[in-house]
Amino acid sequence: MKITVIGTGYVGLVTGACLSEMGNDVVCLDVEPEKIRLLNDGGIPIYEPGLKEVVQRNVIAGRLRFTTDTRYAAAHGTIQFIAVGTPPDEDGSADLQYVVSAAREIGRHMTDYKVVVDKSTVPVGTADKVKAAIEDELKARGVVVPFAVVSNPEFLKEGAAVEDFMRPDRIIVGAEDEQAILLMRALYAPYVRNHDRLHVMDIRSAELTKYAANAMLATRISFMNELANLAEVVGADIESVRVGIGSDSRIGYSFLYAGCGYGGSCFPKDVKALIRTARDSGTDLKVLESVEVANDAQKRVMTSKIKARFGCDLVGRHFALWGLSFKPDTDDMRDAPSRELVAELLSAGATVSAYDPVAMDEAKHVFKGVEGLSYAPNPLAACEGADALVIVTEWKEFRSPDFDGIKARLREPIVFDGRNIFDPELVRSRGLEYVGIGRR
Ligand SMILES: NC(=O)c1ccc[n+]([C@@H]2O[C@H](COP(=O)([O-])OP(=O)(O)OC[C@H]3O[C@@H](n4cnc5c(N)ncnc54)[C@H](O)[C@@H]3O)[C@@H](O)[C@H]2O)c1
Repeated sequence: MKITVIGTGYVGLVTGACLSEMGNDVVCLDVEPEKIRLLNDGGIPIYEPGLKEVVQRNVIAGRLRFTTDTRYAAAHGTIQFIAVGTPPDEDGSADLQYVVSAAREIGRHMTDYKVVVDKSTVPVGTADKVKAAIEDELKARGVVVPFAVVSNPEFLKEGAAVEDFMRPDRIIVGAEDEQAILLMRALYAPYVRNHDRLHVMDIRSAELTKYAANAMLATRISFMNELANLAEVVGADIESVRVGIGSDSRIGYSFLYAGCGYGGSCFPKDVKALIRTARDSGTDLKVLESVEVANDAQKRVMTSKIKARFGCDLVGRHFALWGLSFKPDTDDMRDAPSRELVAELLSAGATVSAYDPVAMDEAKHVFKGVEGLSYAPNPLAACEGADALVIVTEWKEFRSPDFDGIKARLREPIVFDGRNIFDPELVRSRGLEYVGIGRR
């Protein structure tokens, strides 16, 4: 099939690459010429395990191309995926300007039947806006061209995006047009050969399903974070509680880890947007509003623990920071808890030496011009002369560190473990003080 993917970011690039992997003829469009130039030169603008190989294989096979030419992109795909960003607007709602502008580009240039697919995470009712934008453009051109709008939200996880796309838990298709449903079924059939995991529903339910999924996961995290804070006060251990409740098959183990708050490009903005959608519809999502408040507070928990140990004035203090990305296996730092932590430590007068396996380039961009933050070439180097080690991202390479090496380099042998990656007893037995989240 001929496919166009509009927006070549984390979702668009993975979608384009994985669709070409099954033999489809894919064109990826982006408005950023530098991104397209890099891709055409064989580079990859993001870190995502396995993605580079899929992209290179399909570019060589001639099934995957990158362009900034909107006319060419609109003409190419019978299926036009919109995978542009939907960042939060000032009032928390999803900013739809990129989605609408992508829709307008399609309407401006299309000459034959198109299935326009919203893959971006968009609020209920967006498909109507996309339809109206395309109709507007067709009207301005004085032409009638048939098209259908479909909602097909993406559920991939950064860090496992290729695997998630190639072997999805489910594919949600919100559509009313029979021809569009047939095309979507045919497109996704190779990904669900084992058993059918494609669910067709009405468009509004599909749009809401994506937000409901992220809201549920964010709720589990905030729930555990609040319980962790309680565990500290009452002398319980949140890890024991996690195992205790996760073993209940009605609850399960996923997304029950206490830590220093959720971040990333999806949960914070999607929780905000869903709360906004509810308010605009005259309803309150009281549970979700609390989830957001709890997470904002949790992002400050590490600084509170550090200040409780060293005092509020951190002038002259220096901290080693392990992990900058919002989670392991990605270089994405959007809304990462590390950003708030670094800002708070610096504003209290401390300096920070940070290390991350893949997000240092992104961090240099994010923290450009920020004084007091330096970057270390490896985890142990970050600890050199630091007052304490603070762990913010649970990268695998941090899990079994050289504790003797850490202790030898720190001025005070303290580990603040914002992701509970260590066994407190083990760390203490190596002569280090241990401060986790909700740990005994
Ligand atoms: N990142 C994730 O893990 C993830 C997972 C599921 C869903 N989503 C959703 O998918 C959408 C995209 O997220 P992302 O992380 O890939 O964003 P991103 O910022 O990485 O990529 C968006 C891309 O769209 C491009 N763009 C903007 N307007 C354009 C236009 N008119 N024409 C062509 N290109 C345009 C931007 O230049 C950018 O490269 C969002 O709605 C997000 O919520 C993201």
